[in-house]
Amino acid sequence: MFPAETFSDETGRRAGSAGEILAPAKLNLYLEVLGPRADGFHALETLMVPVRIYDQLFWHSNDTSVSGNNFTGEGLSLRVRCLLPNDGRTDQLLGKERDNLVLQAARLLAETAGISPSGRFSLIKRIPIQAGMGGGSSDAAAALMLANTSWKIGYSQEQLLPLAAQLGSDVPFFLSRYFQRHHAAICRGRGELVEPVRQLPRLHFVIAQPTTGLSTAEVFGQLAARAETSDQRAAASHFRLSELIKTLQSGAIASAGRKMSNRLESAAEQLSPWLDHLRDVFSRIGSIGHFMTGSGSAYVGVMRSATQARRAARRLVNMKLGTGKLGSENAESYLKLRNVFATSSC
Ligand code: C5P
Repeated sequence: MFPAETFSDETGRRAGSAGEILAPAKLNLYLEVLGPRADGFHALETLMVPVRIYDQLFWHSNDTSVSGNNFTGEGLSLRVRCLLPNDGRTDQLLGKERDNLVLQAARLLAETAGISPSGRFSLIKRIPIQAGMGGGSSDAAAALMLANTSWKIGYSQEQLLPLAAQLGSDVPFFLSRYFQRHHAAICRGRGELVEPVRQLPRLHFVIAQPTTGLSTAEVFGQLAARAETSDQRAAASHFRLSELIKTLQSGAIASAGRKMSNRLESAAEQLSPWLDHLRDVFSRIGSIGHFMTGSGSAYVGVMRSATQARRAARRLVNMKLGTGKLGSENAESYLKLRNVFATSSC
């Protein structure tokens, strides 16, 4: 059950020693908001797939030689190496994220298990920030898993899941993968109730992240007030999602692509002027379905093959969208892409 073995099938090589874990990104192929909940969150139904863009987390015990770009806390510290384009804002966002998630996860586990470990985590960041690709949540799940093993706590999935849910709505999805080896899951509740979905074909994607990220809380805040979660809305969503999964399992990718959707897209549109433009661009690069992932701001196109995904990524880069005006002379109204990826589901 050790993480390094869990990942050997995904990377074609072993992920590394007992002190290392690969944390994948995710995409939401379907996301419906069923309604507000009493706890301030929203009830969701979403289909998530992990994709082959990974952060890497390492644990080094009793390492006191940490200097420079590291963040400390009660005997635990974290050093982050960012392999994302660094424009200052990334660093600022990462500062918040690393403290909130990797160290929070580790402290929560240590506290729950009643131990005081000391040492250092180091994190290599490749998953874009504020993109809706779950980087922070995946890092948190990886931290729980790595610490659980490295500190010889040995908690089961059932013991770790409540800690994961406390850290964030998407963390249980990433955590449950380490135990169940599923490649996709339906997530319900506020996102923390995970039902593995098996036998989905490998999917190929092109992903574009605009320079402006989006905060999950702000996107949910823009949702038009909906009445209480109704049984009717939940049943309609359940039907649409089952149809999508059946279509995917039958291998009819083009038809499945047309069934993918994200209810948060219209909310995000009020915060990001680029979504409409991205939709238009993605309809011209041969995508068989396209949508925003999670709370954005990354936009995803489903492609027929890995080769087509790579070709579409090159086209996006070469389109020089940074010089394509969106109707005003103001420099702010140019669509700029921070990252473009071609990737596949795990
Ligand atoms: O759980 P997570 O930390 O990812 O949530 C960030 C914010 O997004 C929450 O504070 C909440 O405002 C919003 N959210 C929501 N409903 C969800 C998930 C998140 O309203 N199901």
